Amino acid sequence: MSQTCIAQRMGQIVPFYVMELLARAKELEAEGRSIIHMEVGEPDFVTPQMVIDAGKAALDAGYTGYTAATGIPELRRAIAENYHRQYGIDLDPRRVIVTPGSSGALQLIMSVIVNPGQSVLMTDPGYPCNKNFVELVSGIPVTLPVGPETGYQLTARLIEDGWTDATRAVIAATPSNPTGTLISQKELTHIHQIVSTRGGSLIVDEIYQGLVYGAKEFTALSIADDIFVINSFSKYYGMTGWRLGWLVAPESYVDSLDCLAQNIFLSCSAPAQYAGLKAFGTDCREILESRRLSFQQRRDYLVPALQELGFEIPVVPEGAFYLYANCSTLTDDSFAFAYDLLENQGVAITPGKDFGTNKPQEHVRFAYTTSIENMKEAMKRIKHYIS
Ligand SMILES: Cc1ncc(COP(=O)(O)O)c(C=O)c1O
Repeated sequence: MSQTCIAQRMGQIVPFYVMELLARAKELEAEGRSIIHMEVGEPDFVTPQMVIDAGKAALDAGYTGYTAATGIPELRRAIAENYHRQYGIDLDPRRVIVTPGSSGALQLIMSVIVNPGQSVLMTDPGYPCNKNFVELVSGIPVTLPVGPETGYQLTARLIEDGWTDATRAVIAATPSNPTGTLISQKELTHIHQIVSTRGGSLIVDEIYQGLVYGAKEFTALSIADDIFVINSFSKYYGMTGWRLGWLVAPESYVDSLDCLAQNIFLSCSAPAQYAGLKAFGTDCREILESRRLSFQQRRDYLVPALQELGFEIPVVPEGAFYLYANCSTLTDDSFAFAYDLLENQGVAITPGKDFGTNKPQEHVRFAYTTSIENMKEAMKRIKHYIS
């Protein structure tokens, strides 16, 4: 039998602790326990029926083969038109590259822009996979600790202070995971100025675009056309399992991204792309808008309910479907707290450890991807547990 030799880079890739927690939650459920899921980062709504039907029709019509690596032209056009409709931006569809989820977009961008040894700046807490995408191309992820004072977001100042000769790029997400907070257009413009002046690239993850409550939305594309913008059908469009996303690239990077996409993905799922086309229709938009309102109502319920239990939420998030709560008045070990809560009360939440090393023991993430009724029951159980 040959020896198992795992590449060294795997030593840098850490697992998603929430997946272990989810596995335990499923185990408990299989034993007949009632579990309230507030750990999972995906909408509880299924894909709108008209999108599902369009996917089925595409299969029936025989769209079962590869497509162009950058996506079917109709979808690239529809995405560009949507930017025009929503934000008044004229975008050449050639700059739109359809990817297997925004995860595919992140992998493409990091591979195309980061040389070994170059670093990418990002927030801590932040979306954990970003670090791993940088590691995969032998780059160095550099996390900048952020807190309530900057809305858990990067600022131009933080980037200036964190920049070194090795810095190649900055990645920011608005709304963010795990905090749900936004970056203002003004701050993002400053960030772009700093990054451009230093000769770096700015990547803006807009995967939670559309899931914004109260604040006025914008896209980084309205700031400059040398920003890499990432988006996805996963969250607002409720299509996590279809694995469909996109990126908008600066024109001069399109050919390299296309070349790499041809090699590593060949193409995205053809039926998913035809289904995605349907997601931009006005009839679908109505459904998605009503879902957005439900998320807003859930957030409005959950913030005061958690505060009443002793969690601190210093910045009320204006987007996504997450609350990043400080639990230090209740526990000094959020990891043990999350596991205990699951075992004892059947409430699944994500410990801060999944999102970085900046005070993870003081934080947990609640995903309001379940009904208000379920959340009320969860609050009862948490109250019981902490008292
Ligand atoms: C901030 C952020 N970016 C990217 C992703 C990847 O999502 P997908 O590949 O489903 O588009 C996620 C998923 O949770 C996320 O939270």
